[in-house]
Amino acid sequence: MCGIIGYVGAKPVSEILINGLKRLEYRGYDSAGVATLDESEFSVRRAVGRVDALASLIEEEPVSGSIGIAHTRWATHGQPTHSNAHPHLDASGRIAIVHNGIIENYNSIRTFLEDQGIEFQSDTDTESLAQLIGFFYAQTNDVLESVRHALREVVGSFGVVVLCQDAPNTLIAARRGSPLIVGIGTEEFFVSSDASSLVPHTSQVVYMDDNELVCLGPQGMQATTIDAQSVEKEVVTLDITLEEMELGGYEHHMLKEIYEQPESLKNATRGRIDRTNCQIVLGGLAPCLRELPRFKRLLLFGCGTAWHAALVGEYLFEELARIPTDVDYASELRYRNPLIEEGTLAIAISQSGETADTLAALREVQTRGATTLGVVNAVGSSIARETDAGVYLHIGPEIGVASTKAFTAQLEVLLMMAIDLGRRRHLSPERTHRLIDELTEIPSKVEFALDLNTQIKGLAAELADCDNWLYLGRGVNFPVALEGALKLKEVSYIHAEGLPAAEMKHGPIAMIDPQMPVIAICPQDHTYAKVLANIEEVRSRNGRVIAIATESDRRVRDLTDAVLYVPKTHGLLSPLVTSIPLQLLAYHTALLRGRDVDKPRNLAKSVTVE
Ligand code: F6R
Repeated sequence: MCGIIGYVGAKPVSEILINGLKRLEYRGYDSAGVATLDESEFSVRRAVGRVDALASLIEEEPVSGSIGIAHTRWATHGQPTHSNAHPHLDASGRIAIVHNGIIENYNSIRTFLEDQGIEFQSDTDTESLAQLIGFFYAQTNDVLESVRHALREVVGSFGVVVLCQDAPNTLIAARRGSPLIVGIGTEEFFVSSDASSLVPHTSQVVYMDDNELVCLGPQGMQATTIDAQSVEKEVVTLDITLEEMELGGYEHHMLKEIYEQPESLKNATRGRIDRTNCQIVLGGLAPCLRELPRFKRLLLFGCGTAWHAALVGEYLFEELARIPTDVDYASELRYRNPLIEEGTLAIAISQSGETADTLAALREVQTRGATTLGVVNAVGSSIARETDAGVYLHIGPEIGVASTKAFTAQLEVLLMMAIDLGRRRHLSPERTHRLIDELTEIPSKVEFALDLNTQIKGLAAELADCDNWLYLGRGVNFPVALEGALKLKEVSYIHAEGLPAAEMKHGPIAMIDPQMPVIAICPQDHTYAKVLANIEEVRSRNGRVIAIATESDRRVRDLTDAVLYVPKTHGLLSPLVTSIPLQLLAYHTALLRGRDVDKPRNLAKSVTVE
């Protein structure tokens, strides 16, 4: 959510910034801008829309220098207009900043500064920070002190990079709540919202923590708290490759990531299954291994797709580990004064590890005494670092804004955690063996499901004109119905709803007509007969049913308008295969509607504001 990049070194900065923004664009794409410094003169360019628009502007009106900052915006305060695009300057034009986050007290800062005669140029919260730094700078002539002073005054969240005309070799960056990573090159530094823009330049990085500030330049990197206490930072080696971030011949990242699933699901289990001893080995849980059998209650939380994974997790933990499990939206959890009993293990699920609501919920349950685990993909992210222990997905970067491979890997990791906890309690070796056998077959079953692509493309062509869709599932496939509906909504902008199949008759059945496709997920598990009955209810109201069913299920074929057959697997693992056709259906439908599937309107990959 908003991408930031800054550079200081000896190279021409323009290309570094634009290429960096292109890699960060999935974090927001409402507008983009750069500010560079050359011989103590700022060059500022801003454009509404995608980074390409900014790149074209810079081709016409080049910027020079070897220090600069850049930003791609996901609008929070103020429309995506030219004047609201970052960088924002103070009234003197000597300070320029890019910012990710929200300055919550921007109104009072603005009123105070306007009373001092300062004129604002934009509607953004960010400009109040730029102007406040400038206000203090006008009094002290000390940019570092002014930044510190301003950051002590603001309430809210920020990842901010500051450039000052009078300090032409220094970048100042600070964070509270919004991620920032410093990349260390040879006599050069980068600072960015995430690692994706650093990978082409360096693998050596430093993750900034909340309330830290760094000064970067020829003098090296000085890390302190915002309050000027010095801090020691560890240099970490990134394990992301450039290849993982490229399209690799696919038309879209979403499609590439859907097709990566046989491999990503192998990677998520690699080295974690010990068949000989019939156990799951999750090294990341080591810090709380001894405590594990003692937990009495689990609390899973996340947002969007991660919340859907948590809902599947609830079935898995209750069934396999027999531990009472609750699931909450991260965004609701912290606002309802949650009761965290002693013996609660709270599990935060997040692909990016930076989602502000999930991070806030994590901190809330920590202060109330819960032990916390993370199920996270982005290595070194805030949630990964702030949880007591956790399990990484190990599936490489997910770039497509709609989450696909992270969802299935989250399910797989939660399943492994449930088996692991189960083994420490009552789960028998026989049952564990069966689950492990099924788990190792999942990648080839996902490959089989991917072969449905051509059939799904044809189906999408028949359905793409329908404006309302319903997704039905029961048991572990109820969250899959929610996820299928979310995928369709976010990439095609079609209205869709997911429901537990039996709930349909309590109201939504009133909407059924031939124009509303009903996607029914009905693998042959213990819910099968009931879902078939729900399908009958739709048919008797002239509804149009598309089933996701177990291969060679003839009965379902006679009851529905189309069937997408997936391989048979253990009931608890079925979401790993039933999700695949739903991802492809959303993808093809969106393409037929002419949508930009990798950058759907109004969305951003990593939601770092609450
Ligand atoms: C949907 C999607 C979002 C994210 C949600 C949480 O496709 O991508 O709903 O799942 O914003 O993001 P993370 O997992 O990064 O915390």
